[in-house]
Amino acid sequence: MKPVNVAIIGTKFMGKAHSNAWTNAPKFFKVGLKPILKVACGQDPAGTQEFANNWGWEEVETDWRKVIERKDIDIVDISTPTYLHKDIVIAAAEAGKHIFCEKPVALNYAEAKAMYEAAEKAGVVHYLNHNYRRTPAIAYARQMIEEGKLGTIYHWRGAYLQDWITDPNFPLTWHLQSKYAGAGPHFDLNSHSVDLARYLVGEVDSVMAMLKTFITERPLPGQGAGTFKAGTGGGDKGKVSVDDAAFMVVEFANGALGSFEASRFASGRKNYNFFEIYGSKGSLAFNLERMNELQYLNLEDPADSQGFRDILVTNATHPYVGAWWPPGHIIGYEHEFTHAVVDFLNAIEKGTSITPNLLDGLKGMQILEAGLISAKEGRRVKVAEVQ
Ligand SMILES: NC(=O)c1ccc[n+]([C@@H]2O[C@H](COP(=O)([O-])OP(=O)(O)OC[C@H]3O[C@@H](n4cnc5c(N)ncnc54)[C@H](O)[C@@H]3O)[C@@H](O)[C@H]2O)c1
Repeated sequence: MKPVNVAIIGTKFMGKAHSNAWTNAPKFFKVGLKPILKVACGQDPAGTQEFANNWGWEEVETDWRKVIERKDIDIVDISTPTYLHKDIVIAAAEAGKHIFCEKPVALNYAEAKAMYEAAEKAGVVHYLNHNYRRTPAIAYARQMIEEGKLGTIYHWRGAYLQDWITDPNFPLTWHLQSKYAGAGPHFDLNSHSVDLARYLVGEVDSVMAMLKTFITERPLPGQGAGTFKAGTGGGDKGKVSVDDAAFMVVEFANGALGSFEASRFASGRKNYNFFEIYGSKGSLAFNLERMNELQYLNLEDPADSQGFRDILVTNATHPYVGAWWPPGHIIGYEHEFTHAVVDFLNAIEKGTSITPNLLDGLKGMQILEAGLISAKEGRRVKVAEVQ
């Protein structure tokens, strides 16, 4: 296996998920390239060193520009808050590095466009981590749709619901400030759902959206802006500048209708990433909290015994599963990231592209930004209006 040197920027939630994936990819899958965990970059020197020691990153850095300048780095993994994606992607592309970037792609469509153009101009492989495409049950849903099992698709019904900020004392982290996050669940969660809808149903033509911020001021975080811990704020408060919930209805270019619900205020829902697709020949339903299963209704079954059935997507013949465990020995959230790393390494080795990439990020952002315009102006917005 030819070694390729990886630099990771961002060492917390996604830093951990990605480190696990870089480590496991060549252990479970046959890949031609061996990722070397070369340098980890974070803001806090002691925390970054601890992270590097734990995951086996050889060196540490606190200035991401120094990481990009290094001649020995082949791949830059961007696991930082969203506002940094644009500058890091463009610098990495100009330095000829392959790019593995977290979602949402950027703060807005203009940034996403600049990122895509820079990566294409540099001719590097670029990947945007909408990891859910690589859940075996979702990849299998796409196969079933391509085989025509759903016929003409009429409806997409998606929901991505969480509840981690229902406490009004949850501090004003970067996720709740538009200058760092762009938007709230509309970008964070709807970006995933929109990516899956584009993957499974098709392009979106027009949207109507409604956004709401329930808690408009929150305590300033005690230290840093990246903590998920509630109650660390002092006495001062700051303004929340993103949505807490975002609902959107859309019409797809193929005529299907879709709905998207995204919220951080759905009490009891932790990471409820759910969708249903209804077609002329059958329907599919998926919920990440039961991620090894896909529900399928076949309209060709005899009417009296017709009904949704659970397909346990754990056979060796299902996408990605053969590299893991025998049938029924289920897999989890982290495996999606490993699958993404495997496909990314293969794309670099073969000199091909991978999806979703920065073009998918650009197209997804166009839809999300149309949603922002719709919510602000109270009208239906054509996606093509966003340029
Ligand atoms: N794919 C997914 O499902 C998923 C899930 C969660 C987060 N994300 C995305 O991943 C990205 C990171 O989110 P997170 O939850 O890991 O954030 P986090 O707050 O947990 O971690 C952010 C990391 O970035 C580092 N960082 C911040 N500014 C930096 C700088 N100037 N230089 C170097 N490092 C810096 C911090 O030190 C920290 O290690 C975001 O874009 C987020 O939307 C994706």
